[in-house]
This record gives sequence, C-alpha cells and structure tokens, in this order.
Amino acid sequence: MSHDLYLAARQAMQNAYAPYSKFPVGAALRTEDGRIFSGCNIEVASYPEGWCAETTALGAYIMGGGGRITEIAVVAERMARITPCGGCRQRLAEFASAETSLYLCDEVGVVETVRLGDMLPYGFKGETLR
Ligand code: THU
Repeated sequence: MSHDLYLAARQAMQNAYAPYSKFPVGAALRTEDGRIFSGCNIEVASYPEGWCAETTALGAYIMGGGGRITEIAVVAERMARITPCGGCRQRLAEFASAETSLYLCDEVGVVETVRLGDMLPYGFKGETLR
C-alpha cells in the first residue's frame, strides 16, 4: 500500500524549513518490517549548507536502526511528480537497492512508480572501497 507512505511524506513536508526557496519537500521510506521514516528539506542562510528531504529521512532511518528499504515516496508542494536530485539518488542507493520502488508524487498522491535503479544508471558503487 503506497498511499500511507505518500501521506507520511506529505505530513513530513509540513515540517519543511524552506524560507529561501519556498519549495517544501517531504520524503518517506519504509523498511521491510513496516517501519516508516520521514523527513523534510532544511535550508540554511548559507545556501549550500541546506539539505534535502530524502537526506533527512535517511538520517531518521539510520537513527531508527536501519534495515532493508522496500519503498520510498517523495512529494513537493509546488511540483507535480518531483524526482530526487542527483545527490539524493546516490544517498538513497547507498541504503536501498536497485529494485526499491520510488513513488513520485503530487499534491494528491502517487503519480508514477519507478525503480530506484532506473533513476541512477551507471551510479558509482562503493564495493571497491571496502
Ligand atoms: N529538494 C529536496 O528536498 N529534495 C529533492 O529531491 C530536490 C530538492 C529541496 C532542496 C531545497 O531545499 C529545495 O528543494 C529547492 O531546491
């Protein structure tokens, strides 16, 4: 059921701190045991120091004990079918798999479902660093 994850992302978006871009974003991810972790974007007056909703959600996920990620939802108040930025695709790929479902949402619900792997073709993999 993707709609509850969508609702979690939309709820998280309400907490967005985006006074500079005025572009609130929410993200939520679910682990295989059913836990949901969510986050919003957080901006900083020194603009490059702000970060994305997906990154906040990943922080909550790590602090909550991690686990296998099965689904991810992203929503933005002012954009139909937002897609994660390049940096967040890389961060999500660090903890989720190519098969993880990524729900691209608008203000009503899920608009499109893609595989995370399809969002980051030829992405850098850390295996050789281990
Ligand atoms: N943003 C996200 O939170 N996630 C994305 O996938 C794209 C962009 C945020 C960053 C910044 O606070 C605002 O949207 C405008 O770029």
